[in-house]
Amino acid sequence: MTTVVLAVESSCDETAASVCRDGKILSNVIATQKVHEQYGGVVPELASRAHLQNIVPVVDQAMADAKIQSSDIDAIAFTQAPGLIGALLVGAQFARSMALALDKPVIAVHHMQAHVLANLIESPVPSFPFLCLTVSGGHTQIVRCESPYSMKVIGETIDDAAGEAFDKTAKLLGLPYPGGPLIDRYAATGNPAAYRFPEPQIPGLDFSFSGLKTAILYFLQEKKQQDPDFVEKNLPDICASIQNRIVTILMNKLVKAAQETGITEVCLAGGVSANSGLRNALAENGKKFGWNTHYPAMEYCTDNAAMIAITAYYKYLQGDFATLETTPTAKSDW
Ligand code: KG4
Ligand code: ZN
Repeated sequence: MTTVVLAVESSCDETAASVCRDGKILSNVIATQKVHEQYGGVVPELASRAHLQNIVPVVDQAMADAKIQSSDIDAIAFTQAPGLIGALLVGAQFARSMALALDKPVIAVHHMQAHVLANLIESPVPSFPFLCLTVSGGHTQIVRCESPYSMKVIGETIDDAAGEAFDKTAKLLGLPYPGGPLIDRYAATGNPAAYRFPEPQIPGLDFSFSGLKTAILYFLQEKKQQDPDFVEKNLPDICASIQNRIVTILMNKLVKAAQETGITEVCLAGGVSANSGLRNALAENGKKFGWNTHYPAMEYCTDNAAMIAITAYYKYLQGDFATLETTPTAKSDW
């Protein structure tokens, strides 16, 4: 007996579908919505409309790539929370309708748990318990994961997410949205010690990034008064210094979490785990503290449906099904 799960993800601005057979990902299709670029951020109403247009072709493609028919599907999964409510409704409604038509169960998946479990998609997988630093445009969390069914947020941002810190400071530098990858690219040739930005003093394992953004705003205002071309002349050094600070804020808390819990399996997840400074810092700290470190392949770090499918597969094994009345919610605690 095999188990085939079809999963859809529609929490923000990617319409995605994936097919998983017995925990192995057979397809991973993502339609990134271009419509938001001109607005410098995601416009919820436009995201919902684009999901409606994309979802059927994306699911068709995912089933074709996986070489499955609808009769092969054992369960249909969707992202229940958190996310943009209008966007989530499209995926949920699609999944519930397809489940009704095929007379198969639905599985509701928590988007942030799925980011963590993306680390289970490809070998070598982390052993339990592991810590996961989930860093994306909307979230920054340290999660203690005991099993696919048991995980707990032990630290999170009290204001902006790490991805927002990258994107908002990139905007101050005149870079287009999303600026995170551009900061990473310019930082490669810059000096991370060129400028020192403050590290917030937040108790415990929580993070804060809004003060950093303000500090960079004032720093740039002052420098531009002295030299209007300051940013153009020093972009690599500025980017390297910003990236260095964001990464040290993240890593210092991750090190603290590892020390407090005694856990030495340490993972990254979310779109910001693409950042080369963060990956290098994880490797360095891994060596220093004897951690086994992991991060998912890039296609499983940014928003995708394969992470929803793998999470749903584990839920399927436990018989943890939703009902046709299960509705999404914009916010959700674990
Ligand atoms: O997980 P994700 O694709 O979407 C969600 O927010 O859920 O993450 C997107 C975020 C954006 O803020 C983007 O700027 C950031 O990840 N990002 C990066 C890099 N690649 C993506 N930030 C820094 N360096 C990168 N290389
Ligand atoms: Zn995400």
